[in-house]
Formats: sequence, C-alpha cells, structure tokens
Amino acid sequence: MPREIIIAPSVLASDFSKLGQEVRDVVEAGADWIHLDVMDGHFVPNITFGPDVIAKMRPHTDKVFDTHLMIEPCDPYLEAFAKAGSDIITVHAEATTHLDRSLQAIRALGKKAGVSLNPATPESVLEYVLDRLDLILVMTVNPGFGGQKFIEAMVEKTARIKQMIGDRPIDLEIDGGVTPETAPLVAAAGANVLVAGSAVFKGGTVDAYKSNIDAIRTAAANA
Ligand code: DX5
Ligand code: ZN
Repeated sequence: MPREIIIAPSVLASDFSKLGQEVRDVVEAGADWIHLDVMDGHFVPNITFGPDVIAKMRPHTDKVFDTHLMIEPCDPYLEAFAKAGSDIITVHAEATTHLDRSLQAIRALGKKAGVSLNPATPESVLEYVLDRLDLILVMTVNPGFGGQKFIEAMVEKTARIKQMIGDRPIDLEIDGGVTPETAPLVAAAGANVLVAGSAVFKGGTVDAYKSNIDAIRTAAANA
C-alpha cells in the first residue's frame, strides 16, 4: 500500500519577521511537517537561522520539525538542534566526513536521522548507512536558495533510492522546485515527503497557503 503524502512547507519562503505566525498559519492551512532550512554561508552560499530561532518557533505548533542542516561541520551542533525541538535532523552526506558517526549521534540524541544528497552526489553513499536512517532527502535543486528550477534528472535518482530502501521504514523526501507540476513526477518515483517553499508561501494568507498545499497534495496523489 502506498504511503500517504506528507507536505512539509519550508519557512525559508515565509516572512521571517513573523515566523511564529507563519508557522501557525501554514499549519492551519494543512501543513503536515515544518521544514527548517539551516544555512551557514560556508557549506551553502546563504545564511538563515540557527537553534535559538527554532526554539522560539517550537511553541507555535506540535507538528514535526524537520530540520535540514546545510552546515559544515554539523557534528558540533547536533545537540543544540535536538534541544531546540527538532524531531528529525538531516545532515548532508557532503558536509560530514564520518556520515555513519553523525547519524549515530542524531539517534543517540533521541531524534530521527536523515541524510541529504546534493544533486551531483550519487545514491551509492547511502548503501552502508541504510540501517541507520529514518529519512533520505533528495535535493532537486542545488541547496542554498528557494525558488530555483527543479532538476529533472533527480526523478530517476529518486526511483533508484526508492529501490534501495526496499521495505525499510525510511521516508523519502524531495526538496527544491516542488510545485503541482513537479510533485507528481517525484511521487510516482516513490517519494512520500514533499518540501515546498515558494510554492506554498506565495500569496501570503492562510487561504492562499491552503490552496497552494491542496494543489500540491492533489497533484501528488493523482501521480
Ligand atoms: C534549498 C532548501 C529548500 C528550499 C526550497 O536549499 O533546502 O528547502 O526552501 O524552496 P523552493 O520550494 O522554493 O524550491
Ligand atoms: Zn530544505
């Protein structure tokens, strides 16, 4: 039986001056998870927010906080992101020399462990850590910015990773350029979590967020 589609809006595309309100609004609009893009200006060419800001968002919802760390190194900060209220902590395979150790550290903090792959990174890096993983995040843009164009070649990569996962209870998440047009492509390839920033937060009202989320969900469900 296919797993239900989870929509994870990225607050990267929200109004940072009222993050708590944006979180509440997007939850009211139907968000399943909240995707939190942490950027360091080193691993990626942009800077966003850190654990203190996440901790301030935490009281605004009970939804899963899906923290996507685009920082290098990541290991020294895992505990801070766990304490801030993350439920899932995802690290980039390219940002940690000892990926197996990073994943063990996340689980030791009592959190779900994810690994993210840049578009150019082959899925083979996942082969020996599959049993340490709760989530695999396939970047369908080069990380660093919202509003970029979906990279079509990632559809085939998603399908290959879905095969590697087999029966394991691992979520397969897509991040970057997700819209009602691209969502069906990755859903058909086996993805069950869709991150969307600009496609969700355009319009700026709860009603707009709701119709944006519904459009992505319906498109994915009909894949
Ligand atoms: C990019 C981030 C994404 C970003 C997606 O580095 O990881 O989560 O917010 O934005 P859109 O949906 O606009 O491509
Ligand atoms: Zn992200």
